[in-house]
Amino acid sequence: MSAYISIADVTKSFAGTAGRIDALQNVNLDVPAGEFLCLVGPSGCGKSTLVFIIAGLVKASGGEVRVGGEPVVEPDPDRTMVFQGDAVFPWMTVAQNIGYGLRYSGISKTEQAETVKQLIDLVGLTGFADAFPKELSGGMKKRVDLARAYATNPTVLLMDEPFGALDAITKEKMQVDLMRLSVTDTGQRRTIIFVTHDLEEAIFLADRVAVMTPRPGTIEVVLDVPFPRPREASIRLSTEFQALRGQIRELLVTEEEEN
Ligand SMILES: Nc1ncnc2c1ncn2[C@@H]1O[C@H](COP(=O)(O)OP(=O)(O)OP(=O)(O)O)[C@@H](O)[C@H]1O
Ligand SMILES: [Mg+2]
Repeated sequence: MSAYISIADVTKSFAGTAGRIDALQNVNLDVPAGEFLCLVGPSGCGKSTLVFIIAGLVKASGGEVRVGGEPVVEPDPDRTMVFQGDAVFPWMTVAQNIGYGLRYSGISKTEQAETVKQLIDLVGLTGFADAFPKELSGGMKKRVDLARAYATNPTVLLMDEPFGALDAITKEKMQVDLMRLSVTDTGQRRTIIFVTHDLEEAIFLADRVAVMTPRPGTIEVVLDVPFPRPREASIRLSTEFQALRGQIRELLVTEEEEN
């Protein structure tokens, strides 16, 4: 397995007001190109910190992250982050928000408008191009966020609990959309790291699930998800699915007890 994202001995400490906080300790993880990896772990174990480091938004205290062989030193448009809250600009319309990252992409204004239009349809926001975020529901704003992330057609998507605030049905729809959009325009599978607290979501989406320990977070175990793709929503009801869910839950409960 050759790693596309390689996380080697990553450590992160913060100098907080209440003293030093060791958030991450010797995190080692290799993610091959095209893999969908879900990251689960107890609250405060450093999941967000880890994805921020991979995005180049936070600097590690020690160790190194490489993407495509290059050390990560700053954010890159080919490595797009989707944040937990919605990060839409309230003063821009849906179309302007989605097209934001395309302004400096070197493609013509006409092509930009065409891409934005396609994405609006793709995420089910047809008819809302000129609406402002305040006119949208939470789930719709999340769709704007996702369309903006897909707009620049990144090879790497880093997603920090993107569906955490959505109702169960909207969430299922968004998961199916995400699986469909987990390939680039040229049909190549994106490499995706997706943080979630929802174990069913993790198993439904992932090729592998990485389970982290409580703070200072490190990777406790990485589990294979054996279900073939495309996956139907109904696989959640299968015995194999629920057994894997039980196994991950057990790991997290045991961690909690040991802490
Ligand atoms: N900028 C910061 N300054 C100081 N401490 C920080 C900072 N960012 C994160 N921390 C601390 O690092 C630890 C890990 O935080 P992080 O947000 O990465 O956890 P998490 O696993 O994403 O938690 P959750 O599941 O609740 O989102 C926490 O103890 C947090 O208080
Ligand atoms: Mg977090």
